[in-house]
Amino acid sequence: MDLDALYARAVQAAENSYSPYSRFRVGAALLAADGEIFTGCNIENRSYGLAICAERSALAAAVSAGKRKFIAVAIATPDADYPVGPCGACRQVLSEFMGKNAPVYFGGRSGGRVTASIGELLPHDSLYELAEK
Ligand code: THU
Repeated sequence: MDLDALYARAVQAAENSYSPYSRFRVGAALLAADGEIFTGCNIENRSYGLAICAERSALAAAVSAGKRKFIAVAIATPDADYPVGPCGACRQVLSEFMGKNAPVYFGGRSGGRVTASIGELLPHDSLYELAEK
């Protein structure tokens, strides 16, 4: 699995970010189990609390296209000079459709990249026993 190629798709997706309020662009690229890639960006609103994160926007596109199993996700935050991991809500939502060991690969404007599994990012997964198997 080429996480750098997936990351390049996340960087591209961040270009479509609609983030006039935070001026913080985010792009996400999800690799489906069948090899297809789905991307998303953050979408803000003048009612600030309605912002949709890039990760959830990519998931909405992918699930709407009939995919339910993802083996990796890359997240790009070109306006930060350090790698920014997914927010807590996105960790929970990603965990619905990704295995505990699936890599989450993220980076900022500079070269540093971080890889962590969903299991590491969401320890003691809430409601794990209710998860679809
Ligand atoms: N954001 C994401 O898209 N993903 C995250 O995981 C963290 C936050 C967005 C939401 C908002 O549009 C902007 O980044 C600043 O919080």
